[in-house]
Amino acid sequence: MKVAVVGATGMVGEVMLKVLAERNFPITELLLVASERSVGKKMTYKGEEYSIIGLADAVAAKPEIAIFSAGGDTSTEWAPKFAAVGTTVIDNSSAWRMDPTKKLVVPEINASQLTKDDKIIANPNCSTIQLVMVLDPLHTKYKMKRVVISTYQSVSGTGVKAVQQLENEIAGVKGEMAYPYPIGRNALPHCDVFLENGYTKEEMKLAREPQKIFDDKTFSVTATAVRIPTAGGHSESVNIEFENDFDLTEVRKMLSETPGVVLQDNPETNTYPMPIYAHDKDEVFVGRIRRDETQRNTLNLWIVADNLRKGAATNAVQIGEYLVANDLV
Ligand SMILES: NC(=O)c1ccc[n+]([C@@H]2O[C@H](COP(=O)([O-])OP(=O)(O)OC[C@H]3O[C@@H](n4cnc5c(N)ncnc54)[C@H](OP(=O)(O)O)[C@@H]3O)[C@@H](O)[C@H]2O)c1
Repeated sequence: MKVAVVGATGMVGEVMLKVLAERNFPITELLLVASERSVGKKMTYKGEEYSIIGLADAVAAKPEIAIFSAGGDTSTEWAPKFAAVGTTVIDNSSAWRMDPTKKLVVPEINASQLTKDDKIIANPNCSTIQLVMVLDPLHTKYKMKRVVISTYQSVSGTGVKAVQQLENEIAGVKGEMAYPYPIGRNALPHCDVFLENGYTKEEMKLAREPQKIFDDKTFSVTATAVRIPTAGGHSESVNIEFENDFDLTEVRKMLSETPGVVLQDNPETNTYPMPIYAHDKDEVFVGRIRRDETQRNTLNLWIVADNLRKGAATNAVQIGEYLVANDLV
């Protein structure tokens, strides 16, 4: 496969290259693409040096697959140009996620919807992916009515500039601010931009994307998204009300048997998921599983995953692997 990685110099792009190499994605030619600012810069993949090229040159090269992690504006403008020359685009931005003509894919849940005609495929939001990985088996078995989620999101979810802001604050150095306030020793109830309804865009992604992924509007999700000074992954406190009652032992057993999900749930040994241990792992970790004692058929749990891995790069590469394995590119 001729593969283009668009946004190769970014936070997600760098992990994308690592994941493509680790999983030995069948690459015969690799195009590393970023903004005009980076054209000519060198990056390495599997020990070989590559020069960054611009988007127009990448389209002209007609890659079979282009994995985009370069922001919504770049995807909106350039993904159709790649699609027009026959490239299948796997897009990490929010540009196409809610477009009814595009599929929003978490391979473990809905890759089977993909066909050869899908030329722009959307990767869900990082905090959505780890959420639906855990909700999927539970929804199938007990049928969700309502999900209330509060997130504790890593600075790596905002990109290179935000990680730099935190590092500058720790080092006591003045520098560019990615957030309107300091992030060290702080918690910002503000991820992505505010919308007219008073929610942030991140909160509305969490509310809408699960319905599309499950192709089911019979349940609802409400969210509060908070940025905290961690770097290894996003954490989520999730309260789920089901139509049907559940058995906690069965819930734990089901989650422990779900591919891509790891159960870490033992209060006696202080076992629960944490971002420093989820860092650089592909799995989604779940723990603190307990019955909500204030409401019928309701469960509380805690989900952690590396937002740059399963929340972005790993999920995108898994989509690519599915396309290749099923002869869809
Ligand atoms: N961080 C996460 O956890 C995460 C998770 C899921 C999805 N995403 C999505 O992935 C995308 C990238 O996020 P990130 O965190 O990696 O951001 P980032 O660290 O700021 O990197 C942005 C990347 O996009 C490139 N870029 C920016 N403007 C461009 C343009 N006009 N043309 C071509 N390339 C351009 C940058 O190239 P230069 O170096 O040349 O500026 C850089 O490679 C965003 O759409 C984000 O929403 C991020």
